[in-house]
Amino acid sequence: MTSSRRQMKLGLSIASAGYHYSAWRLPGVAALSGMDINHHIQGAAIAERGKMDFVFMADWASVMNVTDTRIALDKEHAQVKLDPVLACAALAAVTTHVGLVPTASTTYNHPYNFARRMASIDHISNGRLGWNMVTSTNIDEAMNFGLDGPIDSDTRHARAAEFVAVLRGLWDSWDDDAFLRDKASGQYFDRGKFHWLNHEGAHFKVRGPLDTARPPQGWLPIITAGASVNAQELAAREADICYGGQPSLDMARRYYASVKGRLAKHGRDAGDLLMMPGIMAYIGRTQQEAQDKFDAIQDVMNTDVGIGQLILNHFPDLTGYPLDEPVPELMMRTDNLGSARLAGREPEMTIALMNRAREEKLTLRQLFDVAMCGFWSLGVIGTPASIADMMEEWFTTEAADGFMVQPPYMPGAADDFVDLVIPELQRRGLHRTEYTATTLRGHLGLRRPAGRGVAA
Ligand SMILES: Cc1cc2nc3c(=O)[nH]c(=O)nc-3n(C[C@H](O)[C@H](O)[C@H](O)COP(=O)(O)O)c2cc1C
Repeated sequence: MTSSRRQMKLGLSIASAGYHYSAWRLPGVAALSGMDINHHIQGAAIAERGKMDFVFMADWASVMNVTDTRIALDKEHAQVKLDPVLACAALAAVTTHVGLVPTASTTYNHPYNFARRMASIDHISNGRLGWNMVTSTNIDEAMNFGLDGPIDSDTRHARAAEFVAVLRGLWDSWDDDAFLRDKASGQYFDRGKFHWLNHEGAHFKVRGPLDTARPPQGWLPIITAGASVNAQELAAREADICYGGQPSLDMARRYYASVKGRLAKHGRDAGDLLMMPGIMAYIGRTQQEAQDKFDAIQDVMNTDVGIGQLILNHFPDLTGYPLDEPVPELMMRTDNLGSARLAGREPEMTIALMNRAREEKLTLRQLFDVAMCGFWSLGVIGTPASIADMMEEWFTTEAADGFMVQPPYMPGAADDFVDLVIPELQRRGLHRTEYTATTLRGHLGLRRPAGRGVAA
């Protein structure tokens, strides 16, 4: 049954054992998760059961923050993982409807190899592959590719725009009907139906054609994220989905308007780009049950893990402070956040939490609670109805066209979302009850681009 009513787009982000840094310590969560393809297969099956649009895998080609001994890396589970592109290739063979969206960098990949790899998986999945395009701002990653630090934002984004143009040009190398495979005449393909790319730009020189037939989707749907003007411009120009991290309705609406407000100058309409903020949900049939699930995971979080995560978000080092006493006001001063601003990140969330900690005299434990639920994205502890209410409000007030579900622990929190929240969204007509398309573009309601280029 297809609803003509606007419906939410839903992605499930599989991040190792879950988005909470101590998820791996929970009973029922496999500590091996990030390195186990069966864990990813289980996650994809959950998403497919919920008729979700796609599964998503974030990525950084590095062990993160490895040089900062204040960060309790050795107690967190997400430091080693499978390469998401390869994991999606494996998932393509064992799933039928759900879209597959791995993350990969435009700074640390070459567009010819990448076009070939992704086109291959789109064929293997019969048109269900997408791509989360990142330009890579992480120093640990840069040091794995011969650099001492990330490339500046302007260069990163210019390279990304050229990278996308080369990809699409290569994906258009062969017309959809180029291959005759005519055994009688012996004609395998029509020479007039492949196209040279002959791209020569500031970052790449690529002749083409690609040695993989045109992807079933033509071009793969692109997701991207980022708060800076460069990142928003790249999204408005090239992306089909913009993935955001906003913990409040107000921030999400401002971001929604800011990104969508840039579409017209690129000849695009508001419906051409879907805004999908992240949501991290602790779900119970009752409010108390949901709260108990949150408390259970906070109880297994080592204090130094919490302190390390606060440091990563520009808080001072709070090692040694008592857990259940208010954090000293002196430590919650926002005027020493210059370094965060220098790093190009407007520490809006850090400032908001520091102000709140001072005003409400939050204890260190309470700071951890806020940081672990709703710091970098919408965090909720609630029942199916209260969570659906909040999602519906964002969806109907230009804050979101859908959501990236970030389960704090896997598979439990993903199961809860699919078995408890999705039926509530379906009851309200806000989410599909059956898949009606076979490709990711179809799920997202995106037109398949026609091939282009000149005959050889
Ligand atoms: C919700 C969200 C998810 C992100 N996921 C990734 C990721 O998986 N890998 C990555 O390298 N960067 C990721 N980023 C970082 C962005 O791609 C971008 O580089 C960063 O936000 C800095 O943006 P800027 O270049 O506009 O300053 C993510 C950002 C956001 C907001």
